[in-house]
Amino acid sequence: MKSLSDRAVGVFDSGLGGLTAASKLREFLPHENIVYFGDTARLPYGTRSRQTIVKYAKSDLAFLKSKDVKAVLVACGTVSSNAINELRETEPDLPIVGVLEASADTACEIAQAGNGKVLLIGTSATVGSGKYEEYINSKYKGITILSRACPLFVSLVENKLRCGYSVKRMVAAEYLLDLSQEKPAAVILGCTHYILLADVLHELFPDSVLVDSGEESAKRLAATLSKKDMLNKSEDIGKSEFYVSDASDEFLNKASVFVSDKIKSVGLIDIDQYS
Ligand code: DGL
Repeated sequence: MKSLSDRAVGVFDSGLGGLTAASKLREFLPHENIVYFGDTARLPYGTRSRQTIVKYAKSDLAFLKSKDVKAVLVACGTVSSNAINELRETEPDLPIVGVLEASADTACEIAQAGNGKVLLIGTSATVGSGKYEEYINSKYKGITILSRACPLFVSLVENKLRCGYSVKRMVAAEYLLDLSQEKPAAVILGCTHYILLADVLHELFPDSVLVDSGEESAKRLAATLSKKDMLNKSEDIGKSEFYVSDASDEFLNKASVFVSDKIKSVGLIDIDQYS
């Protein structure tokens, strides 16, 4: 039986976007073992009802629990905004870190040192949940929160190899040109896919700091493990395992867009077994 610190960290997303967070986690915690799950059979989550998102997230968590993980990074803005409380109630003893608090805290610190304006961009379910506003208003004073759902962004990222800069630029401008006039101090990329649109977003928001929710959540999970004395004590580089619920070959082809490390194999699982 493995000791607590040797056990893997679980990371999940609806698909590939969470790989951006997993690769940051690998960078911050090189000695940890990581189990990644992308629910590619049921992607996208961002257009679904809260009830469905909660149901999907619970089965994703159950799969990771079956891998005996010691902590979970919810590398999905949609789940973090709509289902994190339910996940924490289901597994009260498991540290579960989402992207919302970490990215909101960083953005608010930046905004407080600047013009006080934060722009949240994310999926329809993330923006519609109002959870960023709820969290920020409960903790910070004097922050103006602007928000906009950008539903096509996930498809743009997933099709990056086939979709050129001008298309991305046009879609981003359609969603965000008016808000770019507001010159927010920080733009929260509330969906883990969006950091892969950083080039066009920098062009639209040249004076704003783009807050990568995947990176911020990976940082927070690292801090949580350290505080709880749960870090892997091994000096070896940790192993990563990848699982999806559909089309594992396609995952392998696309994964190179999201992570620089070559992913050699990916396991296919039946997520319905964990529902
Ligand atoms: N990666 C998910 C997020 O961070 C979005 C993708 C989806 O809609 O499933 O919200």
